[in-house]
Amino acid sequence: MTHTLTHCIFDAYGTLFDVSAAARRLAAQDPALRDIWQAMAEDWRRKQLEYTWLRAIMGDHTDFRAVTAEALDWTLERHGLPAALHSPLMALYDRLDAFPEVPAMLATLTARGVDCAILSNGAPGMLASAVASAGIGAHLVAVLSVEDVGVFKPDARVYALACDRLGIAPGAAAFVSSNGWDASGAARFGFHAIWVNRGAAPVDRLPHRPALVLPDLSPLPELLRPE
Ligand code: LAC
Repeated sequence: MTHTLTHCIFDAYGTLFDVSAAARRLAAQDPALRDIWQAMAEDWRRKQLEYTWLRAIMGDHTDFRAVTAEALDWTLERHGLPAALHSPLMALYDRLDAFPEVPAMLATLTARGVDCAILSNGAPGMLASAVASAGIGAHLVAVLSVEDVGVFKPDARVYALACDRLGIAPGAAAFVSSNGWDASGAARFGFHAIWVNRGAAPVDRLPHRPALVLPDLSPLPELLRPE
């Protein structure tokens, strides 16, 4: 990739923030979750994403906090877990851990003159909490939410929002996501899509593939380094 990329736009959940951290943290205190927190976290995430796609198709938008809460209710029932776990898990979702390499990676990109931003399904309040608790706000020129267009990814209006707000053409930005379908949507839109494949998953069989696949975010600053 060349130095013509002036911006690096990140997906938030699963890319910068570890979405399994909420269930993992509560499992450390609550024996009901000890053996099943991983399966529970996977179901919660999968259902949350399904609901975003289905609401986008149905034209029945609500914000990501509501979708996340609805997916959590389904998941708690699916695993026979008490509804009382809803509140603590939602509270933990507002302060998910960032992946360990994230702060230094953002600092290095910023120092090299690449403007970093978030473009996420997350509602503005959720994103503000997560960014603040991870301490990464100083490295971000913008934290953009799909709420400004009222539809979830991978609708092209979401990716267009980033170009509008940042004042750039798609070809000026890398778009980085751990979600293969999000990388596909971004590639379709014209971004230089980078897929962070933390789980060594097969590439999604979708029409637009990422330009680059990374195992985590550590190599990113070297790859976007000005020539
Ligand atoms: C986001 C979801 C897709 O942050 O992870 O937009």
